[in-house]
Amino acid sequence: MKILVTGGAGFIGSHTCVELMNAGHEVVVIDNLCNSSEKSMERVKEITGKDLAFYKGDILDRDCLNTIFTEHKIDAVIHFAGLKAVGESVYKPWEYYNNNITGTLTLTDVMRAHDVKNLIFSSSATVYGDPAEIPITENCPKGKCTNPYGWTKSMLEQILTDLHTADNSWNVILLRYFNPIGAHPTGLMGEDPNGIPNNLMPYITQVAIGKLPELGIFGNDYDTPDGTCIRDYIHVCDLATGHVAALKKIEEKAGLCIYNLGTGVGYSVLDVVNNFMEATGVNVAYSMKPRREGDVPQCYSSAQKAKEELGWEAKYGIKEMCRDSWNWQTKNPNGYKD
Ligand code: NAD
Ligand code: UD1
Repeated sequence: MKILVTGGAGFIGSHTCVELMNAGHEVVVIDNLCNSSEKSMERVKEITGKDLAFYKGDILDRDCLNTIFTEHKIDAVIHFAGLKAVGESVYKPWEYYNNNITGTLTLTDVMRAHDVKNLIFSSSATVYGDPAEIPITENCPKGKCTNPYGWTKSMLEQILTDLHTADNSWNVILLRYFNPIGAHPTGLMGEDPNGIPNNLMPYITQVAIGKLPELGIFGNDYDTPDGTCIRDYIHVCDLATGHVAALKKIEEKAGLCIYNLGTGVGYSVLDVVNNFMEATGVNVAYSMKPRREGDVPQCYSSAQKAKEELGWEAKYGIKEMCRDSWNWQTKNPNGYKD
């Protein structure tokens, strides 16, 4: 199939391009590079030994999208493009709603004008809010999001569902990611956050390499075995193959489907730090800090539905996730900026 990957230069998008191309699909990427580097596209080509088409453009730019759909016979779209910094979304809500929601409305409008109605959308476990059940199945009701970023995901799920209800020639797969970490095992691609990282794993690797003095662990008084929060960390390459599996479902004309992409296993913050130190032999200094606003104590998936219906499950364990994050960090201390 020929796949348009929006946001394909980003962390998850670039890893997904590799898996798509390795599975024999052709890839066209649109990315405005607002949170990524075109170098990731070179790395995709280096890893796969294959070429892809790259458009530096914005999903809000209807003309650019029309050009792409005219120049390529696209079979399906995998839609990663979006702003994703939780804290920033609180003080820039308009920018988040405009980019993520207007961007997706523009994209889907151009898609239907070109009669391309196959879409895989990057959603997030954040739509469950403080989850009503653990492990979280797809039947768990959506919850109250704690920030505008989360609301864009929740609202877009609704918008895409309504689109399918009104016109069931749409095939829409909503993928709810848990916590992607790790990097390509070659060390050629990985997560390249701007400034001081907000997320746990890039913070750990930057402490380990000496760029940051210590990790603050946000809260050790939660109702969990060691008092720190529990999450479902998933290797980004596993997440990427989840999209290849979802494409097969699209080919079966599946209608609207929702899947969690997680491992089904929860690790606490302290578990991650300890696994990182064991996997790499590198010490990570840390101290306990107050809770971070908006954090939920536990969030991990039931990965059953994706296993049964997509034939997909995560293969990498927590030590491999730590090893590959560290491999990327040590080989690219300044990310793609070197
Ligand atoms: P990322 O920032 O690395 O990738 C997103 C890409 O989209 C970037 O390359 C950025 O330049 C591009 N982009 C943003 N707005 C655009 C626009 N208007 N037009 C064109 N390109 C645009 O983020 P990621 O971690 O790879 O996440 C990919 C998707 O998955 C996002 O939608 C994100 O919200 C979602 N998601 C991520 C996580 C996570 O932990 N990383 C978890 C759940 C969901
Ligand atoms: C966060 C977002 C979520 C988003 C996801 C991926 C919030 C509330 N949620 O998830 O919407 O989809 O990122 O971008 O922000 N931690 C520390 N110290 C740190 C950093 C993190 O102790 O310096 C802890 C956090 O409290 C949390 C865990 O590590 O318990 C994971 O944090 P993080 O990587 O930010 O992911 P989430 O909060 O799960």
